[in-house]
Amino acid sequence: MADVVSKTALDCGIVIEDDWPGYNIDLFSSPTHYSGDLDCVYIPHGVIMDRTERLARNIMDDLGDHDLVVLCVLKGGYQFSADLVEGIKTLSRNSNRSIPMRVHFIRLKSYLNDQSTEDLQIIGAEDLSFLNGKNVLIVEAIVDTGNTLKMLLKHVEGFRPKMIKVAGLLVKRVPHSVACLPDYVGFEIPNRFVVGYALDYNEYFRDLDHICVLSESGKMKYKI
Ligand code: HPA
Ligand code: MG
Repeated sequence: MADVVSKTALDCGIVIEDDWPGYNIDLFSSPTHYSGDLDCVYIPHGVIMDRTERLARNIMDDLGDHDLVVLCVLKGGYQFSADLVEGIKTLSRNSNRSIPMRVHFIRLKSYLNDQSTEDLQIIGAEDLSFLNGKNVLIVEAIVDTGNTLKMLLKHVEGFRPKMIKVAGLLVKRVPHSVACLPDYVGFEIPNRFVVGYALDYNEYFRDLDHICVLSESGKMKYKI
């Protein structure tokens, strides 16, 4: 894990500042069933893909030629995982180095509406003994306080992998974050609730390609 003290500019990924207004939603295509539900396109799909391609290269540079178990954290991480794995596969078949990969899925559940709840459930992680002695890459869509990641790491460490790295597409700048950051970060973003690219609001918006900011009316419409 990257130590906060020794963090370099590249470790933070692409930094999106607090005053970034995003792009007008009508400048891009998005499904009509979400019209009126979104304030702006925060990170366009193409930019996510370009950044993911580079993360795949960084992972290949660090871990190439060793077997890897990709631990995809569902549900939010499925799209990032899929695209990251595709990126690594592309590099593996186009260079002299390659990474044989296995993919495993676990599910964490802790959010209701746009608020984190105390009780975190890990599903599908009961027996991870196959991680013993392996290189493991945990793939998360979003890291905010870092508490979830810290808990998950502790759980995974219990199965004695040879090495654990973490890839997080988004890291949120939140007030009470613990010193637990992904090794590979796509974007550092302000403390705003975002949806799309498999990130949800009460299970909606996973079917949106861009990462967007919800509108107040969208929040009301899908509240439970
Ligand atoms: N969006 C969706 N899910 C999340 C977020 C977010 O901003 N933060 C933590 N889980
Ligand atoms: Mg969610």
